[in-house]
Amino acid sequence: MTSSKPRVIVTRKLPAAIETRMMELFDTSLNVDDTPFSNEQLAQALQEADVLVPSLSDVLDASLLVQAGDNLKLIANFGTGTDHIDIKAAQAQGITVTNTPGVLTEDTADMTVALILATVRRMPEGMGMIQSGTWQGWSPAGMMGHRVSGKRLGIVGMGRIGQAVARRARAFGLSIHYHNRQRVREVTEQELEATYWESLDQMLARMDIVSVNCPHTPATYHLLSARRLRLMKPDSYLINTARGEIVDEQALVSMLEDGKLAGAGLDVFEKEPAINPKMLAMENVVLLPHMGSATLEGRVEMGEKVIINIRTHADGHTPPDRVLEGLI
Ligand code: DGY
Repeated sequence: MTSSKPRVIVTRKLPAAIETRMMELFDTSLNVDDTPFSNEQLAQALQEADVLVPSLSDVLDASLLVQAGDNLKLIANFGTGTDHIDIKAAQAQGITVTNTPGVLTEDTADMTVALILATVRRMPEGMGMIQSGTWQGWSPAGMMGHRVSGKRLGIVGMGRIGQAVARRARAFGLSIHYHNRQRVREVTEQELEATYWESLDQMLARMDIVSVNCPHTPATYHLLSARRLRLMKPDSYLINTARGEIVDEQALVSMLEDGKLAGAGLDVFEKEPAINPKMLAMENVVLLPHMGSATLEGRVEMGEKVIINIRTHADGHTPPDRVLEGLI
């Protein structure tokens, strides 16, 4: 007897409560040891599944998607960013793609502000001093960072996460500036006391701290190019909790090496999990392992969204978090 439950293949380990619920609801195959799938394993999963549940470590390009079996009708991504999936190729094959927007907003915004504070106030350096036993006690000139309050924060991408960063940043006394494809509603601008810059170039040249909070799309690849990074003030900081590909990382490293930027706080990298070794040696660079949204609560809510998307699709309806090419 064949199962009427959709065959769901999950590529990475998910929170236990989500895995259990998926086992109850679907004919689910889990990845209990969490080893990332190879391309061959991904191709096999695409052939066998009715629904694939990948995450950002699975690159689903056109050459892989073309190998999908006839039954694959849904890719229910565990994550908000879908830049690892060729949405156009999936759509062309009649495969719906969904994501998990909204539930990572507050956690990612928290981490953005944490990175601003950690970088500008040199927190990891101070912690390293304590841990290595080299701290000699307080001194007037010791461990001076910069005051955050009163500085200008330029947010690149004023969507959900950008706005959540702005709300928090205001509480720290930062003045809010932003660049976005579209100007946000007047009421939001007023609430955040935010200044809109139509020209990203002009904004970058005037900010003390720049925070990258836009999605990675073909249009935002290297949005912060070498030319644009050079527009930033030498005493300014760059914070990125969005995607590494939005910043020209090589150019950023050169600028940091040459002292043309005060520092950087990065949670994401161009070639994750590889980190440019030069950055590892820089005291003014704070590096985190793509953990902006890593809270148990957030991961469970992401899983719940995945389940809702699968169930809605299985019931013959358009899933709530359908991703359409051109709309991200
Ligand atoms: C996402 O969902 O895109 C996040 O980057 C994962 O942390």
